[in-house]
Amino acid sequence: MDAGHVAAVARIEASAFSDPWPASAFSELLERAYARLRVAVTDDGTLCGYCVLLRAADEGEIANIATEPSVRQQGVAGRLLDDALAAADANGAASVYLEVRVSNEAARALYASRGFRQVGRRRGYYDRPAEDALVLRRTRP
Ligand SMILES: CC(C)(COP(=O)(O)OP(=O)(O)OC[C@H]1O[C@@H](n2cnc3c(N)ncnc32)[C@H](O)[C@@H]1OP(=O)(O)O)[C@@H](O)C(=O)NCCC(=O)NCCS
Repeated sequence: MDAGHVAAVARIEASAFSDPWPASAFSELLERAYARLRVAVTDDGTLCGYCVLLRAADEGEIANIATEPSVRQQGVAGRLLDDALAAADANGAASVYLEVRVSNEAARALYASRGFRQVGRRRGYYDRPAEDALVLRRTRP
């Protein structure tokens, strides 16, 4: 991801989440060495997904991932996540964490398919609507 992608990323973000990150959040992370931001594009070059991996010591965090509604269930998020996990592994991360809404069945299926398992629950973590977060962890194979 570079600065030229941020507007398209923010459009997907706004359609994907009830509490979306502002465009500035992506722009700021582009300046941070601990953040790895990647996009997916269709064959015609249209941006259709993105993934944000944060690195800290020997841990990683999938801080954001989304795909454009018209490309869902075609493997795009799986490829983005596989790429982020490979980078975390190569960077020495023993574990990668993330939070997900309890009701987000699509994301939970995605994460389960990549070896994430529940390790905690944060009560009332999300707003709009209020909902618990599940904390998932994937350990390096
Ligand atoms: C969650 C999300 C990123 C999945 O993106 P996607 O491009 O459709 O995912 P993929 O096609 O790569 O699917 C990956 C896996 O998840 C499963 N999956 C995806 N959507 C699913 C759904 N609606 N129901 C059940 N399983 C689903 C797929 O079966 C697939 O499993 P497999 O690799 O074992 O075959 C997408 O639905 C999205 O952007 N949602 C809104 C944003 C969001 O919730 N992000 C996550 C926040 S924690």
